[in-house]
Amino acid sequence: MLNNKIVDALNAQINAELWSAYLYLSMAMQFEADGHPGFANWFKIQFKEEQAHAEIFMNYINSRGGRVILKPVDAVPSEWKCPLCAFQDTLAHEQKVTALINNLYALAEAEHDYATRGMLDWFVSEQVEEEETAKNMIDRLKLIGDNGFGLYMLDQELAARVFNTPAPLAGK
Ligand code: FEO
Repeated sequence: MLNNKIVDALNAQINAELWSAYLYLSMAMQFEADGHPGFANWFKIQFKEEQAHAEIFMNYINSRGGRVILKPVDAVPSEWKCPLCAFQDTLAHEQKVTALINNLYALAEAEHDYATRGMLDWFVSEQVEEEETAKNMIDRLKLIGDNGFGLYMLDQELAARVFNTPAPLAGK
């Protein structure tokens, strides 16, 4: 059984994951409107990944007898001036999410909830990957600069990204 402090914190994290999903969907829509289908695809996959993160937390709360409470999802920005700007915002946002996960981890330890701490291990590793991916994209976009052909080639590459079900949802 989860204690109330932990349930409240996990529900807040569900809201943060859904806000992340909404943010990346907004970025995908701008790239689609701007004629960058590959970037749009990349952010649509990111949108699905964030929904999956929320689902992992929901499954976990339910599995331990807690109650999932879905709160309103705040509005997200709707305009980025360049692809680099979108990825810089992505990195900054993922760094914030990493801090949220670390806070949850610390709370689980303080409450001696070692099952919750164990569940969070997957998210700790996932955040390392999320930040690294965003940073790599920033590095590549800085190299490309305003070279249209480079941007076109990267767009082609990002069109190939596919969604992979995260391990905690496999078979669910
Ligand atoms: Fe759910 Fe991108 O962290």
